Amino acid sequence: MSIVPTDLATAISVEGVSKTFTSRRGEIEALRGVDLHVAPGELVCLVGPSGCGKSTLLRILAGLVAPTAGRVAFGGNGEGDPRRTMVFQDHGLFPWLSLVDNVAFGLEAGGVDKAERRRRAGHLLDQLGLAAFASRYPDELSGGMRQRAAIARALLTEPQVLLMDEPFSALDAQSKLVLQQELMRLWGERGQTVVYVTHDILEAVLLGDRVYVMTGRPGTIQQEVHVTLPRPRNVHDRDHPEVKAKAWSIWSAIEGQVRQNLHIPG
Ligand SMILES: Nc1ncnc2c1ncn2[C@@H]1O[C@H](COP(=O)(O)OP(=O)(O)OP(=O)(O)O)[C@@H](O)[C@H]1O
Ligand SMILES: [Mg+2]
Repeated sequence: MSIVPTDLATAISVEGVSKTFTSRRGEIEALRGVDLHVAPGELVCLVGPSGCGKSTLLRILAGLVAPTAGRVAFGGNGEGDPRRTMVFQDHGLFPWLSLVDNVAFGLEAGGVDKAERRRRAGHLLDQLGLAAFASRYPDELSGGMRQRAAIARALLTEPQVLLMDEPFSALDAQSKLVLQQELMRLWGERGQTVVYVTHDILEAVLLGDRVYVMTGRPGTIQQEVHVTLPRPRNVHDRDHPEVKAKAWSIWSAIEGQVRQNLHIPG
């Protein structure tokens, strides 16, 4: 069952996007001439060394930051303004709200009454295995539970475009495996357009239909990798020869810059 009607499907088109931040310490060129295209219902990953502009690009897609140059367009005619929701690395839950109210919060601006908001939030918490924790507060939960709740909150708004900035990077390896599996399941059910930023190259290849490999600075797209492994995929596909080969080839492309950032020559 698809929750997002197909007529709401959208595509993203980024053309020649550059971003220069001006701060007291001068100008920082974060992105230069970035071209990127995402088809409706596609899951595209962005990987690249720290500081190469991944979060900046995601914020531009979210409409939180304006590009200095270039164009971002949505939908077939380029004039769409799809509902976009961002999931941040640090979950961003409100400590003073229970889990169910945190998740329901996403609907507050939409004119849905409180009982209905809670009902829908409760349903999603149930789907994510959090029903028993609905009345708990974020600081009473594990990191994995908080991150699941953050994903539930994002999904509740039924975004047409889901923008995820390293949503699992703060988690332990085992929780991450489970949540990757859950994300693949939820995405398989909904077919939303997703742009997913991660440092984890294997994760990018495992989850993505395509992976854009970025290098900095300024941030540019260095290559685009297509992953043909059929869906549904699961975490065991980490060992699939295509996944391993593509992950190593991406690592070869960025290892030099990661070493440079760390001042460790190869
Ligand atoms: N609001 C801002 N003002 C000034 N500089 C900024 C701002 N936001 C980002 N930058 C700079 O832009 C560059 C890209 O930052 P960004 O956060 O997009 O990188 P990133 O690839 O997401 O890094 P990480 O992997 O560490 O999260 C960095 O040099 C950063 O310092
Ligand atoms: Mg970032």
